Parts: sequence; structure tokens; C-alpha cells
Amino acid sequence: MASGRSHVRSNDTEFGFRADSDFVWLTACQSEGAVLVMTPAPGGHDAVLYLPEPVGPGQDAFYADALRGELWIGPAADLADWSSALDLEVRSLDALDAALEAAPSGALVAGAPEPRLPRRLEASAALAVALSAAKLVKDVWEIAQLRAAVDATVAGFRAVAAELPAAVEFGGERWLQATFDRHARTFGNGVGYSTVVGSGPHAPTLHWTRCDGPVLPGHVVLVDAGVEARSLYTADVTRTLPVDGTFSPAQREVHALVERAHRAAMSKVGPGASFRDMRSTAYESIATALHELGILRVSVDEAMSPTGQQHRRYLPCGTGHHIGLDVHDCARIGDERYLDEPLRPGSVLAVEPGLYFHANDLTVPPELRGIGIRIEDDLLVTETGHEVLSAALPIDAAGIEKWVAALR
Ligand code: GLY
Ligand code: MN
Ligand code: MN
Repeated sequence: MASGRSHVRSNDTEFGFRADSDFVWLTACQSEGAVLVMTPAPGGHDAVLYLPEPVGPGQDAFYADALRGELWIGPAADLADWSSALDLEVRSLDALDAALEAAPSGALVAGAPEPRLPRRLEASAALAVALSAAKLVKDVWEIAQLRAAVDATVAGFRAVAAELPAAVEFGGERWLQATFDRHARTFGNGVGYSTVVGSGPHAPTLHWTRCDGPVLPGHVVLVDAGVEARSLYTADVTRTLPVDGTFSPAQREVHALVERAHRAAMSKVGPGASFRDMRSTAYESIATALHELGILRVSVDEAMSPTGQQHRRYLPCGTGHHIGLDVHDCARIGDERYLDEPLRPGSVLAVEPGLYFHANDLTVPPELRGIGIRIEDDLLVTETGHEVLSAALPIDAAGIEKWVAALR
């Protein structure tokens, strides 16, 4: 029964996850319909993964099921393929109900739709937390995947910058989005999340994934995009590019303030520091910038208080997150651990402050309305500090101008 990695030892960690096997479990658990059942066994748990079987010739669904029949979708990996890829016992999802009925009450289940669970078994929140926590520190192979995803993303940004003239001439935001997405599909598995290309007045719209506007001289274009490697690890990078190669004085001023916040936040990333340190530093720097611009109507201290947060009007999102198999990785560990657990070498974080001034926001001076700037880099925590994996992209406005000019 207990063989290979199907048996996990509880003396390694709470549920016995082994660093070198975490990723395969997590990948499998994220597959559509996958259910992991872990049954207590002496010294740990026996793990079995239940997956839908491919539907081949000889079965009615081969013709009738457009979602699963191989006639429709082409050949699919079978259970033996999965088992050997994951080094884990894999059984058909058809056997799940019987397995759940037979499972002892201490069994841990991840991925089962609630209605399929017998009453005495609850979907294990603790297991979901443990799976998420297993992703907090990446091993050597995972770091190489993230490095490759970031490198491909940097190349994708280069491709986008080279296409700025074509975007102005005929293609608009669609052309830039398609440029990045084609690059991601060709050199990785695809995009890690929907690409944002927001030009001119669209730049301050956080999730401008519609990408259907024009790209015009004088605009800045905010590109938030990540290549997902074929192993499904994803990068998450943002740069704001001057369309005609030069930032206007107002765009440059906002860019400098975001750059200051970005550098301050990145300086807080290192072993033993907490995510909260980085986040508060980013927000405080953004609040200070808004104060200097005369936009913040309260003191920076009041804005930073839990009941204040007035700066969030202009940055209504976070300032970073772990990245990995999910673009927002490790999200199930709970706020307390996420914010306060000391970062360890091997953690990989996106840091991403910004300022979003909507075109119709009357609280913003007219000359700043319609400017959206964000800078997002991916950082690996090392033994002594951090490495910026996306360092091939310039951060400062002058560096970005030079970089764009060289690619035109
Ligand atoms: N693109 C998703 C994010 O920046 O978090
Ligand atoms: Mn991000
Ligand atoms: Mn992003």
C-alpha cells in the first residue's frame, strides 16, 4: 500500500510534504476534477490522487462528450501516465465515491466538490493550508522554472516595445496584447493571467484586459503581463512605456514617485523580513507621494492608520504577492502567516506599487488626470537579501526611455 511518494511521512512537516515532490502534487491538484485523498497510516498518510479517465474509442462518450471524448479533444494522458509523471498512486475518479465512503474520519481530502463528500469527512481546510504553505519556499527546480518564466516575460516586453510604432499606426492596444500573448504561447505555455495593455486614459484602469483602445503619441501604455512556463510557473511583470519614446513632465513626475516607492519596497525584501514590512513601506511611500502632490487630504500617518487608508483610492489593490504555480501563490495560508511569517531564501515575490489617476477623478490636479503608472518586478529571496529576477528591464523613467528607443 505505502510505496514511493504515495506514502508521505508526517515527521518531515505537518503532513509530510517533501520539497522535491510538492510541485507535482500541486500541479495535479489544480487539474480540473482532481481529488487528493490522504488516509492516515502509521507514520504519515497514504496519498491517492483521483483523476477523470480519458474517454477513448469503444465508449459512447468518445463520440457523445465534446468536452472529454478523444474524438473531440484528441488523445489525453491516462492514469498510468499521470502516475508515472507524479510518482503517486492515481485511480479513476469513478472510484472516488467508494473510496470516500471507506475512508476513516481522519482522512484528508483536497479538491472534492462538497456534495461528493460523506458527512463525516469535511473538505480539509488544513490540507489546503498545508498545500499553500508548501509553496512558500521554492526548491532549486522551481526557481529555475520561475527564472525561465521571467526571462521569457522580459523578452515579451521587448517584443511589445518594438511594436509600439505599429500599435500607433494601425494596431492599438490589441496589437500589443496579441504581441505579448503570441510570444507567451510560443515560448511558454501561454500567459499566466490576462494581459493588461492600457494606453492613455486606460492606463489607470487596473484590469484593462479589454485592450481595445488606440495607442497614441503622448500616451503612456501600462503593460502588466507574464509568461507562464510549460511547467505552469508564471512570472508577473509590469512596466509603463512612453508611446513616442519620451515621458511628459507630468508622467515623469508620477513615474519617479512610483519608482521611489518600488525601490523602498524592494529594499525590504530579504530573509527574516515579513511581507508586511514590504507592504507598509510601499503604501507609506505612495501615501507620502500623494501628500507631496497635494492630493492626500489627510496626514500620511492618518492615511497609514487601519481606519484611514485614503491612499488606497489611488492604488486600490495590493503592492505585491508570492508568485509560483499561481500568479497569486500561497493565497490559502491565511492573512496572519502571509503577512507576518519571516520570508525565507527561496520565496519568490512580485513587488508592484503604482499610482492610478483616473481621467475623471476631480480630486486629482487636472494635469495628472488620466495618468496610470505601475512598476512590477519579481524578486527571489536569497540567503543575504534578494535577487531581482526581472532586472533586465529598466526601472527608472530615463532608463525606460533609452530602452524603448533602442527597440524601435
Ligand atoms: N497581474 C496580476 C497582478 O499584478 O497581481
Ligand atoms: Mn502582481
Ligand atoms: Mn501584474
